[in-house]
Amino acid sequence: MQNNAPLAAAWTRLADLAAHPEARDIRARFAADPDRAARFTASLDDLTLDYSKSSVGPEAMAALLALAEAAGLEAFRARLFGGDVVNPTEGRAAMHMALRSAPDAGMRATLPGGVDEASRLAAAERDKMQDFVRKVHSGELRGATGLPFNTVLNIGIGGSDLGPRMAVDALTLAGTPHLRARFLSNVDGHAFAAMAHELDPARTLVLVASKTFTTLETMTNAHAVRAWMAGQLGEAAIGAQFGALSTNLAAVGAFGIRPEHVFGFRDWVGGRYSVWSPIGLPVALAAGWEAFQAMLDGGRAMDEHFLRAPFAENLPVLLALTGIWHIDALDLRTQCVLAYDERLRRFPAYLQQLEMESNGKSVALDGHPVEHPTCPVVFGEPGTDAQHSFMQLVHQGTQPVPVDFLFAAVADHDRPEAHRILIANALAQAEALLRGKTAAEAEAEMRAKGAAEDHIRAVAPHRAFSGNRPSNTIMFRRLDGFTLGRLIALYEHKVAVQGCIWNIDSFDQWGVELGKVLAGGILPELAAGAQAGAHDASTTALVRRFKALRGES
Ligand code: F6P
Repeated sequence: MQNNAPLAAAWTRLADLAAHPEARDIRARFAADPDRAARFTASLDDLTLDYSKSSVGPEAMAALLALAEAAGLEAFRARLFGGDVVNPTEGRAAMHMALRSAPDAGMRATLPGGVDEASRLAAAERDKMQDFVRKVHSGELRGATGLPFNTVLNIGIGGSDLGPRMAVDALTLAGTPHLRARFLSNVDGHAFAAMAHELDPARTLVLVASKTFTTLETMTNAHAVRAWMAGQLGEAAIGAQFGALSTNLAAVGAFGIRPEHVFGFRDWVGGRYSVWSPIGLPVALAAGWEAFQAMLDGGRAMDEHFLRAPFAENLPVLLALTGIWHIDALDLRTQCVLAYDERLRRFPAYLQQLEMESNGKSVALDGHPVEHPTCPVVFGEPGTDAQHSFMQLVHQGTQPVPVDFLFAAVADHDRPEAHRILIANALAQAEALLRGKTAAEAEAEMRAKGAAEDHIRAVAPHRAFSGNRPSNTIMFRRLDGFTLGRLIALYEHKVAVQGCIWNIDSFDQWGVELGKVLAGGILPELAAGAQAGAHDASTTALVRRFKALRGES
């Protein structure tokens, strides 16, 4: 329990404000303050966060800023960037910011028995990556048969997949990639079967991406792809065409990957924060080194903003605080992310791990249950597709769902009208969520179209919208590497700020362990002839039924 009177007072103040009858009335806030749009907008250069359509009012924002202060956000931020142990359950720093820092930035990370010169280590590995990318692109590095590579196949899961997969889409869908990137994450054999037919083994560079190099899914897939390639080209191809991205250099060596194809990082980089590390190598190979470096520069620009901007103008802090208001004060436990940009189609999936693996916790740092609800359920799809699937619920369902809209002002294609249609839809969705439509308006519309009165009475309630549904809008000039880096770091720091306020460890993930252990127990029971073990009655029956359906009981 955080024994802190100002903190308790700040939470009480938020609860009092939330109990006010107008707490959810966003339209009333606009009516009361003609300057609300400007007052509730903050920017980092062209990157703008408009949170005026959120439910936060001026008193709530003052209370939220007091909450951040009372929670010790300033000291937490200093400890985070100082490389202190901010992940106490694993005894680790969270120093992913060093991966995008200047080589001489002097960032350090605390280790159990000392300290890493994090900026310097990251820069040295970056140089090695850049050299590798240059050799692949120039054809100096080729496959075992002498053909240049045309595909990079990344084998990894979770943070070793979601970040690079999302970034490759974001940075290559608008143009022609240097190399095609393919991502194999699921241990389901259908996943590799579905892509193997379109891979030319002689021209495929395989990267085994795993922080621990022990993850069952990744190692299973790595061995399968290794056998496939050796079967097609002979064992010698493995040395020439396999690389590894990992912290576990001993295990990488045992797999038989050449040291010059191995790119390392340290435990102070969490899996879901690792796209800036060698885990980002597929991004550099597909999108080019300049785009990857621009992404790092963008992340660094957001770091500097997060470190320097006053909290009331600080984008990650404001995004975090609007979230806290919606989740903890108004009890809205979901968060929708709608990027109106096809290139960001994997951004919600990436954010799901970033937010839910970081802050999906119910125990506070002191081991007691948390006192306030933590991470919302995050989901999303690209706009406009989402409008034709789940947006019905967001507009008219029983629970308001806060939405983050994201889009670029300038598109990287030559169909300006399509871009205007896209953005008109994004703006219209946010406007509709705010404005709504009263039953009287719905009735008047139907009457104007000549509908019969009994039909109007029956149908108008279904055509009404409550409005006052909250959203944020994040707009930027263009989606390039620099902006992608800013966006990723924006959400990373948002998550850290919320974790600080909820007093949880945002950098561990013990919740994924139990299932892994139980899968290890069930696996041998699924072998033909093996007996089902002692489980709950449902699991035992399902094991038996599975085997019966396979004719193996
Ligand atoms: O899902 C649990 C997790 O540990 C994630 O945190 C991580 O990103 C993923 O598995 C993959 O881990 P690794 O990179 O070690 O294979």
